[in-house]
Amino acid sequence: NYYAIVMAGGVGSRFWPVSTTEFPKQFHDMLGTGETLIQKTFSRLSQLIPKENILILTNEVYNDLILEQLPGVKQEQIVLEPAMRNTAPCILYASLKIKKQNPNAVMVVAPSDHWIEDELQFVSNLQHAFDFCEREDKLMTLGILPTFPNTGYGYIEYDKLDSRPIKKVVQFREKPDYATARKFIQSRNFLWNAGIFVWSVESILKAYEDFNPVMYSEFMNGFDVLNTADEKQFIKEYYPNSENISVDYAILEKAQNVYVLPATFDWNDLGTWGSLYDKLPKDEQDNAVVNATVILENASNNIIRTEGKKLVVVDGLQDFIIVDKDDVLLIYPKGKEQDIKRITAMANELK
Ligand code: GDD
Ligand code: MG
Repeated sequence: NYYAIVMAGGVGSRFWPVSTTEFPKQFHDMLGTGETLIQKTFSRLSQLIPKENILILTNEVYNDLILEQLPGVKQEQIVLEPAMRNTAPCILYASLKIKKQNPNAVMVVAPSDHWIEDELQFVSNLQHAFDFCEREDKLMTLGILPTFPNTGYGYIEYDKLDSRPIKKVVQFREKPDYATARKFIQSRNFLWNAGIFVWSVESILKAYEDFNPVMYSEFMNGFDVLNTADEKQFIKEYYPNSENISVDYAILEKAQNVYVLPATFDWNDLGTWGSLYDKLPKDEQDNAVVNATVILENASNNIIRTEGKKLVVVDGLQDFIIVDKDDVLLIYPKGKEQDIKRITAMANELK
């Protein structure tokens, strides 16, 4: 009864110039492990979930990249979205497809672009969550102990007095402002939402029906054609009109039956160059070097990446991101890494 949907539609714009709209970060080997992030995700999930029950959700344009990188995956397992509408519509769409195959399914929703080192702990946490959701009508998230007031994450407040391993969520708050995030961290009973969700198909569909009845009924109109030859036409027509909203805002902030399992594996959302820097091995001056050959003097805390073994010479530079790729060279302060999203948009306009 175990199923998974892998979210692979993001473009990773803060990882420009390596991650681009044509070739987003989930299809790159960001850490130099020999495998791309989506390949890692797939093999991690298949330790618990039958390979044929893992669906990959993505935009049409990435279909060939997925077939190339995950050769064991059949075309029917790749669920193609004709437009980017964020995570709420695609999770609903995939959940209905799974329901049609197996109404008793329990499923995990997993991002394709995160870094998890301890696969054994990941699988054991996932097993725990599956057991729970097979028994109860609950929506589960995996929570991460926060280390700083990151405003790009969802926060999960749980009851301080709840000593059970799986805790009832008091409130779920997606992307708070900085002051609020600081307050959350100080309260000590908040976790980051890892963006990994577990629930039964029945529970999540009920939540959509309760909190997004319009979206729910629009997709239900096509329930009969799902997993048939007519599905594509239905999706092409209706999908682009669905509301552009994430599952965090559409469901998790509203539902009353959300539970959290504090994760016991390390987790890194690999959202920015800085988060990648944190995961990479460093030299004595704390420079992280990927692919490049380097001569470094008076250089510390930099991340340096080239495509081939290009020689990079740096003197007198601290806390910088230096990335060389084809026709782009980025030299950018680490402290402003969030701005790379804005720069990417500017660069795309110049193309
Ligand atoms: N298939 C598909 N289609 N996937 C999508 C789409 C889409 O339209 N939009 C986003 N995704 C994928 C992304 O590739 C990513 O793997 C995942 O869904 C989450 O989307 P993000 O855009 O990365 O969300 P976020 O980082 O702003 O916030 C989410 O993740 C945080 C942890 O990384 C939220 O769940 C937060 O609460 C959470 O803390
Ligand atoms: Mg993200």
